Amino acid sequence: MNVSHESLNSEARYLVAHGGCVRGEVTVPGDKSVSHRSVLFGGIAEGTTEVDNFLESEDCLATLNAMRAMGVAVERPAPGRVVVDGVGLKGLAAPGGDLDMGNAGTAMRLSMGLLAGQSFDARLIGDASLSRRPMERAATPLRQMGAVIETTAGRPPVTLRGGHALAGIDYALEVASAQVKSAVLIAGLYARGETVVREPAVTRDHTERMLRAFGVEVESHGGRVAVRGGQVLRATHLRVPGDISSAAFFMVAGALAAEGPFLIRDVGVNPTRTGILDILRLMGADIRLLNPRLAGDEPVADLEVHRSELKGIDVPEHLVPLAIDEFPVLFVAAACAKGTTRVTGAAELRVKESDRIAVMAEGLRRLGADAEPTPDGMVIRGGTLSGGQVASHGDHRIAMSFTVAALRARGDLVIHDVANVATSFPGFAGMARHAGIAVEETR
Ligand code: S3P
Repeated sequence: MNVSHESLNSEARYLVAHGGCVRGEVTVPGDKSVSHRSVLFGGIAEGTTEVDNFLESEDCLATLNAMRAMGVAVERPAPGRVVVDGVGLKGLAAPGGDLDMGNAGTAMRLSMGLLAGQSFDARLIGDASLSRRPMERAATPLRQMGAVIETTAGRPPVTLRGGHALAGIDYALEVASAQVKSAVLIAGLYARGETVVREPAVTRDHTERMLRAFGVEVESHGGRVAVRGGQVLRATHLRVPGDISSAAFFMVAGALAAEGPFLIRDVGVNPTRTGILDILRLMGADIRLLNPRLAGDEPVADLEVHRSELKGIDVPEHLVPLAIDEFPVLFVAAACAKGTTRVTGAAELRVKESDRIAVMAEGLRRLGADAEPTPDGMVIRGGTLSGGQVASHGDHRIAMSFTVAALRARGDLVIHDVANVATSFPGFAGMARHAGIAVEETR
């Protein structure tokens, strides 16, 4: 493995003892997508928005700090509690410098939508991973609305010029992306007339739900979402559900190695996010939804996971956008399943925090798995995993996925470059240990 001398000395690593089982219960932290939106919408609302169970991860704090830099007072009086003093749709002020979005694609693309309609200029930057990711997908429709945006060969840094009036458009998304849909809808709040977005496939609808919670009229029907410009957002009280994308690691851990019923509490089960449940169930997992309820506008349940023999499947393509962030850990499930799993229609995985097709195939093959990357997915023939060293390429979900793989490996794992787990799931290693996975973080 190409690990530089310097990174060997300074990088964070997980050492994971192989085997074991998971038991008892865990409560995963708040949803990343919902947390980003809560401070963004709270900031442009009229009045004070209170948020509970906000995900205090590096990604969501990037959005929170960007809102602060634009003059929004945000307090954090207690863990998970955020109070946002909204300045209204027109109340944002020019930031004093670049807005640093860190590792967070959601922070950057949603902010592009927000900044498209402001009176001031702003420049968005990110870390090395974010600086490789495509931004034209958001810039293109925003320019059609009248925004003036410069990307850097299609990538960050992204500069948005202020003072250009926006007009509503009717836009058919080229990729099934909730971030792009959301960027256009947010810009639509600042645009003259109606803004319409048409989705090629269902993607997460947190923006639509949350705008409604702030009193905005949003029409959505049959893949068409529409919002009229100039509507006032009224401050509200939000409770962020547990992140199903974080719960996914424990769902797979439970399916592979639960001892008795394994409970994951307070998980958001918005139907635009539950592809992971459908796919794991098709593979033979036994995951039960207990105590379904609502957290504000988002459905929530407790998940009871039982150990099962998983089998390989052809993953239905319509489920891909509904489980897009869960493929790294689904690939681990597939490598431990009986038979062949084929994933197609998932080329988007190549432009996430890392190229998740290439990076997962590389790591699984290092552990002796039969994993063949394809341009838009992977073919995995289930079997046994050995121990060894894997590189997460700074991708939080790759690091956590291989931690779960250790439950079924025949030797211990060293997972390199895991510091970015803090972008989405601070406290992961501690929670995994609590559940029974023998993971230690070292430098
Ligand atoms: C997100 C949308 C998805 C997802 C990301 C969060 C969101 O990205 O992968 O982690 O909060 O809207 P795309 O819009 O690029 O599919």
